[in-house]
Amino acid sequence: MSATESLRHDELVARARQITTRELQVYMERTAGSQRATDRARKVLPLGVPSSFQAYDPHPIVVRRAQGSWMEDVDGNRYTDYDMGFGALFSGHCHPTLRAAVDAQLDDGTLFVTPCELNADVAELLAARYGLPMWRFTNSGTEATMDAIRVARGITGREKIVKVEGGYHGHHDEVMISMKPPISEAGPADAPTAIPATAGITRAVLADTKVIPYNDPEALERVLRDGDVAAFIVEPVMENIGICMPQRGYLEAVREITRRYGTMLIFDEVKTGITAGWSGATGVLGVQPDLVCLAKSIGGGLPLGAFGGTQECMDQITAGKVLHLGTYNGNPLCMAAAKAVLADICTPETHQEVNERNSRLVAACQTVIDGAGLPAHTVQFGAKGCITWSVEPIRTYRDYKATDFDLAFAQWMHGINRGVLLPPGLDEQWLISVMHTEADAMHYAGVFQEFVDELTA
Ligand SMILES: Cc1ncc(COP(=O)(O)O)c(C=O)c1O
Repeated sequence: MSATESLRHDELVARARQITTRELQVYMERTAGSQRATDRARKVLPLGVPSSFQAYDPHPIVVRRAQGSWMEDVDGNRYTDYDMGFGALFSGHCHPTLRAAVDAQLDDGTLFVTPCELNADVAELLAARYGLPMWRFTNSGTEATMDAIRVARGITGREKIVKVEGGYHGHHDEVMISMKPPISEAGPADAPTAIPATAGITRAVLADTKVIPYNDPEALERVLRDGDVAAFIVEPVMENIGICMPQRGYLEAVREITRRYGTMLIFDEVKTGITAGWSGATGVLGVQPDLVCLAKSIGGGLPLGAFGGTQECMDQITAGKVLHLGTYNGNPLCMAAAKAVLADICTPETHQEVNERNSRLVAACQTVIDGAGLPAHTVQFGAKGCITWSVEPIRTYRDYKATDFDLAFAQWMHGINRGVLLPPGLDEQWLISVMHTEADAMHYAGVFQEFVDELTA
């Protein structure tokens, strides 16, 4: 950064902090009901929330209703929802087709614990999209990645796994390592130290998980050389540090290296599976893994996960070598929702329409950035988009950590007071759903323009 750029950057940060201070005050006033609800909840729920991801200071908004593309909090404030259940609602809130399918299923029961025909219906729909023949259902993305790792260990007879620094794959022990480690403790960028993200991870689990930077095929090869790694689990496009795209040739190299060392390649498509396009990131980017994990948007707002694999991988389950279990697996209610999502709501046509709408939003935000000469850029992947507060695109978790969190936080706080609801962590991105109209989508760009006008005034 030149001296003039650095001066301007300091001015922008100082202005962003002023905006944050003022907007926090406004937030406290307009969400007094959420504050009261959180105070009550904190007496019976740690942090007052059902998942620690939902907690933020001074208190989260507490929601009473959501439909289509909007949510309403307990104070009666309306928001255009761009969070959409951390990306789980590509279909929108309560899409009428999904609602009809769920209503019809309620007449026929919610849990059989013996198969229903919907199981094969949904598995066939997934097989057609993701190019993998065999599927099993879970209740969350966490279970999907946990079970896929177990299958990989079963087929290879190896114990170690590899994940990327900054990658999130759910809340089971093996992957709650180096999720968002402090850089001061994280060791060298090209050979990061594995750091537990929570208490309760045993030393044995820690020793079995190797951590590498994203977008670095040489680092992958280095950790696979000993021939003791069962699986490399990776999001093909990282969507828990904004949106971090694979560099040209990275995924192809990953495919070739994992194959050469007999390591299973697991794509975690919990976020990208539906939102990237009709056949997920696998289809868009054209690299086929051994196992794919799905969740979020396949359930259309109901709790559902799935993992699919090659015949060889999934034969581990058929042969009884790997056990895959679960009372609610493939329950008819979630199956009815998934069938409506996969067969009727997320068609190739709706994917195209939504992606094009999102492209117009992304372009509008980029125009605002360019007009003001801001140290920021936009990224789009399918129906997802984000503004990243750095001039250069990010390639790794370390790049993401170097982006400007003051500017990002001020924009987030400014937006929420104007009905633009984004996920609380600055590592997330927006989702344009099937139910966002053109005006809904563009609401974001209008509020962003207001923010930038004030930031640069
Ligand atoms: C990439 C990725 N994998 C796995 C998960 C875990 O999914 P779930 O929260 O359904 O357990 C998430 C959740 O955000 C995710 O983003």
